[in-house]
Amino acid sequence: MSVAQILSQFQASGAETCFHDRHINPQIYAGLDGKNWGIHDYVARGGYAALRKILGQDGGEGLTQDQVIATVKESGLRGRGGAGFPTGLKWSFMPRQFPGQKYLVCNSDEGEPGTCKDRDIMEFNPHTVIEGMIIAAYAMGISVGYNYIHGEIFHTYERFEAALEEARAAGYLGNNILGSAFSFQLHASHGFGAYICGEETALLESLEGKKGQPRFKPPFPASFGLYGKPTTINNTETFAAVPWIIRNGGQAYLECGKPNNGGTKIFSVSGDVERPGNYEVPMGTPFAKLLELAGGVRAGRQLKAVIPGGSSSPVVPAELMMKLTMDYDSIAKEGGSMLGSGAVIVLDDSRCMVKSLQRLSYFYSHESCGQCTPCREGTGWLWRVVDRIERGEGRPSDLTLLDSVAGNIMGRTICALGDAAAMPVRGMLKHFRHEFEHHIEHKTCVVGADV
Ligand SMILES: Cc1cc2nc3c(=O)[nH]c(=O)nc-3n(C[C@H](O)[C@H](O)[C@H](O)COP(=O)(O)O)c2cc1C
Ligand code: SF4
Repeated sequence: MSVAQILSQFQASGAETCFHDRHINPQIYAGLDGKNWGIHDYVARGGYAALRKILGQDGGEGLTQDQVIATVKESGLRGRGGAGFPTGLKWSFMPRQFPGQKYLVCNSDEGEPGTCKDRDIMEFNPHTVIEGMIIAAYAMGISVGYNYIHGEIFHTYERFEAALEEARAAGYLGNNILGSAFSFQLHASHGFGAYICGEETALLESLEGKKGQPRFKPPFPASFGLYGKPTTINNTETFAAVPWIIRNGGQAYLECGKPNNGGTKIFSVSGDVERPGNYEVPMGTPFAKLLELAGGVRAGRQLKAVIPGGSSSPVVPAELMMKLTMDYDSIAKEGGSMLGSGAVIVLDDSRCMVKSLQRLSYFYSHESCGQCTPCREGTGWLWRVVDRIERGEGRPSDLTLLDSVAGNIMGRTICALGDAAAMPVRGMLKHFRHEFEHHIEHKTCVVGADV
């Protein structure tokens, strides 16, 4: 069986979710219809103008490496992969004068449950990722890059490969890009679907052909990355934002959002809403507005809670969530959670929180790479204890046990998957403890509908 045939057995089958008119001021998803992904349509939408601008091919003087990095810093763009690290600052960490090979890597692993934005970008607007990566490579003096794509979306990998061929043929990739002195080779690579391969150092191991297990940090990829060389890794959506920033200026991007949270953000809204899908809106948009765009909570139901940034982010009860805006600072400082990857999982009043946590805990236990004891053993413990509570076999001491196991994982592991498993447990116990107590005491579900 060929690699393609093997992978096709695991392909995700979700429908496209970005073709609608319910985005607000979209930049990345603007004007897409599913057919206009190719280079001619991209150029007609203003594509590759940012690259021409920095290379001085639009009649201007061009931009120096420092000017490109300064523009990205000014824009307030923060990494869209989960941690929200300032992108311009990350680019400034690359030792540009390093005499050997340096690498640029795009993280398109997109395995966080609830997240499905990057695959739509790569499938329906792949050239914006390619152009963003070329600009990043120029700014950091890098000549080789890779886009590591999740293995269960093989058709997306093939689409990205086709777009790369178009870019090479048009002179935007390869040696002496558009006749300039700048050369950049970009390749696509696909994983096999492991969630942990989205962690940046596990991704690098996998890209090198090894088992995808995270490395100890430090050293960080900026000094010891792919094949031990200086490497910058960014998320797909992060790179996709860059051409707009260069075309329109850092200040214009910053003003699209709110201070310290520049630009637009794509939210993958799923769960109990009428219109699940990907929604691109300015940072700082009220959650209530995003919920309205997604058609509201499904008919006849009330909002109970929201997991605002992918399954790793602590749950936020409805009343609090309705007061928040969708940006890094509001969700963290006022909501006590994380914006993460922007996967907004909506739970209505029919949902049992014990059942929800049982499902999440199983995921993290399954996806732990097993390298460190607190995560390997602790994620299994968390799942087994939540599982028995859900099945009506919980013990009075189980909630203390859950809190203790979560506490013994957090901050004691090589990578953040351990924290990602522990945080949802603590969030659920903080806000919905009574549901767990009810399960233990009465051996039934408090909502009466164990869906
Ligand atoms: C368990 C785990 C899974 C992750 N999965 C992804 C992923 O699928 N995509 C992604 O971009 N970042 C993921 N990250 C974050 C990356 O390690 C890294 O921070 C990110 O790619 C940096 O890009 P950014 O600065 O543009 O956000 C994951 C992190 C952890 C700990
Ligand atoms: S925290 Fe978990 S996933 Fe991360 S390295 Fe340790 S065992 Fe592996």
